[in-house]
Amino acid sequence: MIQLIDSIEGMQALAAQARMSGKTIALVPTMGYLHAGHASLMEEGRRRADLLVASIFVNPAQFGAGEDFATYPRDLERDRQLARAAGVDIIFAPKAADMYPRGYQTYVNVDELTLPLCGASRPGHFRGVTTVVAKLINIVMPHLAFFGKKDYQQLAVIRRMAADLNMTVEIIGMPIVREEDGLAMSSRNAYLSAAERRSALCLSRALQAVRDGYRSGETAVKVLRQQVLDIIDAEPLAEIDYAEFYHEATLAGVDRADDRTLVALAVRIGKTRLIDNCVLGEE
Ligand code: PAJ
Repeated sequence: MIQLIDSIEGMQALAAQARMSGKTIALVPTMGYLHAGHASLMEEGRRRADLLVASIFVNPAQFGAGEDFATYPRDLERDRQLARAAGVDIIFAPKAADMYPRGYQTYVNVDELTLPLCGASRPGHFRGVTTVVAKLINIVMPHLAFFGKKDYQQLAVIRRMAADLNMTVEIIGMPIVREEDGLAMSSRNAYLSAAERRSALCLSRALQAVRDGYRSGETAVKVLRQQVLDIIDAEPLAEIDYAEFYHEATLAGVDRADDRTLVALAVRIGKTRLIDNCVLGEE
């Protein structure tokens, strides 16, 4: 039976008890409206730990004014079924008023890695992410925590935070799970109309074009970037937010592509902002 816990103290007591009896704990933090991308993280957590906790919390601190906090899709009953099928033992779903009570004023901030890409487009976003992930780690006390490479910069920022703050948790990055036609899975795909859903394929198509170009010998970022812009610009419903070529570890900009080049895209399809990425040397 999957257990649903909303109390922070209750979760902490259970985690402390599990640790005391020698169990390894895995944490998969999510904002819910679960899909096969989330399930892949949970399944790996199931394989690697004794106690598997998935958190579901739409974290107000990581949404900017005018972003989709209020409309973010929520369906706990559906999530519970998917989590159970993926082998989750405990869903931790705290209340916002308990996570951020009156008088709350402590935030975790990672500096340079949060400046480009989504950090530039969404001011304050990563501060909200690192703060909530640090809190979840303190509450669930996991040995392992799983994150998707779909949110590539988020993973890099969380790795940095865990190292810099001497957290004992091991941060594990997992591959992007895609729909059959290539669209990266995302809870926000639920916002797309049929026409937008077709249009959204331009992200994975643009990444594929860059891979093909790179594999056939093109390394000039200027040329590769233009291929991306051409594909996105040809989609009437798509508006580019960023298309960047960075070193996959440092997130420093590059003008010659190599196997360690991260190609990161953010594109607005109608009102929905979607992200996708690939590292040129990876599958
Ligand atoms: P959310 O968007 O719900 O994603 C939860 C986790 O699932 C993240 O680590 C994300 O990278 C991963 N994920 C999402 N789509 C994926 C896909 N198609 N393939 C593989 N992994 C995928 O990311 C967040 O929530 C929040 O910022 C959070 C970390 C929970 C902090 O609030």
